[in-house]
Amino acid sequence: MTTIISGKDLASSRKAKLRLEIEESLVKYGRRPKLAVILVGNDAGSLSYVRGKAKAADEVGILVDTYHYEDDLTEDFLVNKIKALNADPEVDGILVQLPLPRQIRSDVIIELISPFKDVDGFHPRNVASLYLKHEGILPCTPKGVIALLDSANIEIDGKRAVVVGRSNIVGMPMSKMLLDRNATVTICHSHTKDLASVTSNADILIAALGKPRFIKAEMVKEGAAVIDVGCNRDSNNKLCGDVDFDNVAPKCSYITKVPGGVGPMTICCLMENTYIAYLNHMEGKN
Ligand code: GUN
Repeated sequence: MTTIISGKDLASSRKAKLRLEIEESLVKYGRRPKLAVILVGNDAGSLSYVRGKAKAADEVGILVDTYHYEDDLTEDFLVNKIKALNADPEVDGILVQLPLPRQIRSDVIIELISPFKDVDGFHPRNVASLYLKHEGILPCTPKGVIALLDSANIEIDGKRAVVVGRSNIVGMPMSKMLLDRNATVTICHSHTKDLASVTSNADILIAALGKPRFIKAEMVKEGAAVIDVGCNRDSNNKLCGDVDFDNVAPKCSYITKVPGGVGPMTICCLMENTYIAYLNHMEGKN
């Protein structure tokens, strides 16, 4: 039997709990957490992500200031904006929606965000904290995937985990978080030879390569847990994941869907990270 793990339901219950915690903190500290969101340009995917983030923030009681700029924005302007947000005592978290237009170097911008306000967990200090097991802000998508596995009581310790994709946002931190939970981790990518022979050994398979319905049934082990991080549009402009869900699901013990799987958990973890940054801020930890 296959269990579909619902990221939508898990995110809903975690956001309800977070909302209560934020109401209590409002009484204690006299203000709500605030997230600044920066969007440059009008990419349809980015616009939809930013709307989703603002909606979730509203649900949990986090204030959002959204700064939406045209795609001819200069790097200098954005640098000055980030400096101002870093210095603003009312702002707890800063999120710059990626990708940025070509004239703006995203690594320069990410490094400029205060690591204490970097709720995406992309700043080199937070990346280093993950790799050195220091306290820091964890990136939202892999954090959400671990929460999904835990919510279904899927054992990670000692299992073979295969991560398909090696991006800084998902594949790399995902692999490290699974390793920290004592999985035996293999990272696959576009140069991997005979990908199916690797993925079909996975007890836990994380698909994060960004190709519509790429993971087919024959690439998946019977009884595997499959987590689909993909968020693609197919040739009919239909939203779909990296996993060929209809054919793969019958083979799995657990699987997530797109939409309604990892996406809502990414946003939920962003809210949780903003709250953690706010608490650290209010408690004078930074
Ligand atoms: N673009 C795609 N995914 C993400 C994300 O997790 N954070 C930001 N800031 N931009 C993204």
